[in-house]
Amino acid sequence: MPINGRPFLVAGAPVGCFAVIYLDYAASAPMHPDAVEAMHEWMTGGFGNPSGSHSVARRAKAAIEDAREVVADFIGVEPAGVVFTSGGTEADNLAVAGAIAANPSGPSGRGPAPIVVSAVEHPAVAEAARAAQARGHEVRILGVGEDGVVDLDQLRQLVDPEVALVAVQTANHETGVIQPIEGIASAFGSGRRRPRSTPTRCRPRPGAT
Ligand SMILES: Cc1ncc(COP(=O)(O)O)c(C=O)c1O
Repeated sequence: MPINGRPFLVAGAPVGCFAVIYLDYAASAPMHPDAVEAMHEWMTGGFGNPSGSHSVARRAKAAIEDAREVVADFIGVEPAGVVFTSGGTEADNLAVAGAIAANPSGPSGRGPAPIVVSAVEHPAVAEAARAAQARGHEVRILGVGEDGVVDLDQLRQLVDPEVALVAVQTANHETGVIQPIEGIASAFGSGRRRPRSTPTRCRPRPGAT
């Protein structure tokens, strides 16, 4: 099917005498038919500005809130924690800038909080980290092994109570490597916990002999 006079490549579709086999699904893939079906009504007749006050707007707003609950339930978070964005770059920038904005002086208020970013992040994350670095935040780079998976031992060393954010993609946009998100979350959580303060001096309880 030509679009703007150029052939539009569809996986497996013949172009001239070649059959095109599209091998870049890690970067971009066709929408799942179920998603197409679910969205069709809203992208054709059911659209409306969800910020408006008329009935069409209210219906669109209700559909968005329903979707927010479905997504929240799927990933196990509160609906208020799900933020819809227009795309990946906006989401990445929001996540990096938002984590820093929530901790402008670091968790202990000592100065710009350090952040940890994997070495294989998409430029949308890497550039956001660079911008944070230019504003005084230390950027700690988390390396990956030959298999492209992040080094959890190194992560444990990089995370301390001052770190405001660990940015690691779920699946790499070029290699498709899937990262151990649960292990990363638990390394981040345990690294952020402050060591229990140990008493340096014991005072006798009043009345104790
Ligand atoms: C992790 C990640 N962030 C951002 C982007 C860019 O997304 P968009 O073109 O929607 O801004 C991509 C695209 O592949 C991505 O994989």
